[in-house]
Amino acid sequence: MKVLVVGGGGREHALAAALHRSGAELYSAMRNNNPGIARLAREVRLVKETDVAAVVDFAKAAAVEMAVMGPEAPLEAGLVDALQARGIDCVGPTRAAARLETSKSFARELMQRNGVPGNLRFASFTDLGEAKRFVRDAGFELAIKPVGLTGGKGVKVQGEHLKTVEEADAYLEEIFGHGIGGGSVILEERAVGEEFTLQVFCDGRTVVPMPLVQDHKRAYEGDTGPNTGGMGSYSAEDHLLPFVKDADQQAALEIIRRTVEAMAREGHPYRGVLYGQFMLTRDGPRVIEFNARFGDPEAMNVLSILETPFLEVCQGIVDGSLSTNVSFARKATVCKYVVPSGYGTRPQAGKVIEVDEDAITREGARAYYAMVDQEDGRILTTTSRAVGVVGIDDTIQAAEEACERALQHVRGDAIFVRHDIGKAELVNRRMEHMAQLRKA
Ligand code: AMP
Ligand code: GLY
Repeated sequence: MKVLVVGGGGREHALAAALHRSGAELYSAMRNNNPGIARLAREVRLVKETDVAAVVDFAKAAAVEMAVMGPEAPLEAGLVDALQARGIDCVGPTRAAARLETSKSFARELMQRNGVPGNLRFASFTDLGEAKRFVRDAGFELAIKPVGLTGGKGVKVQGEHLKTVEEADAYLEEIFGHGIGGGSVILEERAVGEEFTLQVFCDGRTVVPMPLVQDHKRAYEGDTGPNTGGMGSYSAEDHLLPFVKDADQQAALEIIRRTVEAMAREGHPYRGVLYGQFMLTRDGPRVIEFNARFGDPEAMNVLSILETPFLEVCQGIVDGSLSTNVSFARKATVCKYVVPSGYGTRPQAGKVIEVDEDAITREGARAYYAMVDQEDGRILTTTSRAVGVVGIDDTIQAAEEACERALQHVRGDAIFVRHDIGKAELVNRRMEHMAQLRKA
């Protein structure tokens, strides 16, 4: 089957690899020339993924039967709607269904209207003065978020990034002044706990969970520095996390199921991958946000251990016949992203990076290329994440060691890695934090 993969990051390299393994003939539409995707694809079109007309033209010319969406921006641009109108099935939601991600107020209001558990107190504002007043009057700490897409970097939390009311004011002024994320803002109750990601496959009705993953958004070790798209992530062999119990996973899955039901009830059935970012609080999981796609890096963790042919899963999603029988190897994974030096503030782009993929495979790991460009046989960094390296083994510790060994085979003189991801010290800190909250 001819399948188009939209996007050129690490997530999309993992998607392409999983589709290729299951026998798909691949076509790729991406902005950067990702060498990992390029070599798997029959044909590549270098194009902005939000250029709907250009991507649709390519899909029609290549006569693809199915398209698998990577990033969120093309969803918001209406790419799924346009491809479907031309008879091409899509793994990814329509523009209306993607509002679960593209409008943070839509997601919270949908949950509220439909009595979906796991919501947080919130209020949305289009007026700066009213937003400032709410910050003063709320009586609890807030997360301040632009309502629309910001590439995962637009959230600031009181008590973490914002120490004073004046700092909160200044951030609100910046959002409204620069029209960040559409220039309206949602203020949410700050949830305290440990974060985890639950991704599911969904065919509009049936919801099938993938292993839980924990991402690391902060740029520097010890969870410091600015928020990024994600520096790395791990998953455990039992498909839970060391600080997330079975009952917590089930509560999170129930929140997702109820959200999917609500979408269908309101006339926007959700087809694709739905990503729930949860904060596990002392009172159970609370929704931090939904994403209308796989997470990046989280896709690399779960797709690396997917045993069911991915193409079959995709067919089930588009046909509305998704089987609940999707299996993942009982292995732990640790993914660390190699990023350009300065990533998160002033990344150094255009530097050569060398990846010895055979050596990485010998270490029990996999490399997924992300936002790099292949030019004249050399691989050059951009301002975004460069290569995801995933160690796979029986325990988090062994997977972390495999990842570190593999990272030795990625060379460049302007690269940075958060080495603490998946290490016992960090994982134990999360477990202790959770145990403390549960006791309190
Ligand atoms: P988001 O882009 O919505 O995932 O937010 C980025 C990060 O900000 C999250 O991963 C959390 O660490 C933090 N965050 C967002 N919303 C909240 C909230 N309501 N309470 C506490 N932390 C939050
Ligand atoms: N890793 C977080 C995201 O993909 O949004």
